[in-house]
Amino acid sequence: MDEKMFVEEKIGEIKETVGQNKAISALSGGVDSSACTVLAHRAIGSNMMAIFIDDGLMREDEPEDVTKIFSDLGIQVEVVNAHDEFFAALKGIFDPEEKRKAFRETFYTVFGREVLRSEAKYLIQGTIAADIIETKGGVKTQHNILEQIGIDPEKGFGFKVVEPLKELFKPQVREVAREVGLPESIYRRMPFPGPGLATRVIGEVTPERVSLVRKATRIVEEEVEPLKPFQAFAVLLGDRGTGIDEGQRKFGNIIIVRSVESKDAMTAEPTEVPWEILMSISKRITGEIPEVSRVAYEITPKPPATIEYI
Ligand code: XMP
Repeated sequence: MDEKMFVEEKIGEIKETVGQNKAISALSGGVDSSACTVLAHRAIGSNMMAIFIDDGLMREDEPEDVTKIFSDLGIQVEVVNAHDEFFAALKGIFDPEEKRKAFRETFYTVFGREVLRSEAKYLIQGTIAADIIETKGGVKTQHNILEQIGIDPEKGFGFKVVEPLKELFKPQVREVAREVGLPESIYRRMPFPGPGLATRVIGEVTPERVSLVRKATRIVEEEVEPLKPFQAFAVLLGDRGTGIDEGQRKFGNIIIVRSVESKDAMTAEPTEVPWEILMSISKRITGEIPEVSRVAYEITPKPPATIEYI
């Protein structure tokens, strides 16, 4: 694929489709939504409104980092703080699929509100080829936000969906992201699930528990950085384990560290993380997060395990 040509072609197509109308883009900071937000901005300038829904389940400084990257590219991003709404929806839920459902419904409510509030006639969506294949196969349910918030894109309010990346697979999207000037921190970004850190907290998702796993995630990402794994993260278990803190026994939290190598996330192998890095992760997590008393490294491939814990 010639990325330059692809970019020029898509800019032309978006321009032609959207015309003088307004469009809205749901930016998550992932490579897909980032690439298509830049394409749309290049095509229609300030008629494209980028919305970043801050669900309170992101990694450390993620909303700030993403808005800074886009502002450096001359693209203003509107951040919608919806922490309370997401935590309220997730309260008391232990079941993994119930968590996803609560997340999804809250996302559509919050984003749907923004779409309706804006004067946008078009929604720029970072759907890629794998999303369409997985939706058809019943693996994913994210595809087509408008339909899921109860707006029929054909009849409804006259909104139309623009999907500039829908023929591409992930590696090609990364090339396009690089071509449009996004930094390496975006085009090489590890996959991060839509429901964010809610998928990495076993048991109830509370602000306190998310905060623990967020700190541990930062440490894991920093330590494995030289290895450039496909995906690496921390998980907070629902159970606890005894540790010793200043001579006292304490029943602290348990963090699992997961790092995997994969091509397409359909199958995965555990990363062979060198011992020194594992020890450093363990020392830093227990040293920097007093609520944690134990750290374990997980070595199950996919299958039989999935990559995430829920
Ligand atoms: P699993 O855990 O199923 O994950 O092996 C495969 C890939 O998909 C990501 N993942 C999700 N992405 N919403 C998403 O947008 C989800 O609910 C979800 N669950 C898993 C996961 O991070 C991995 O890259």
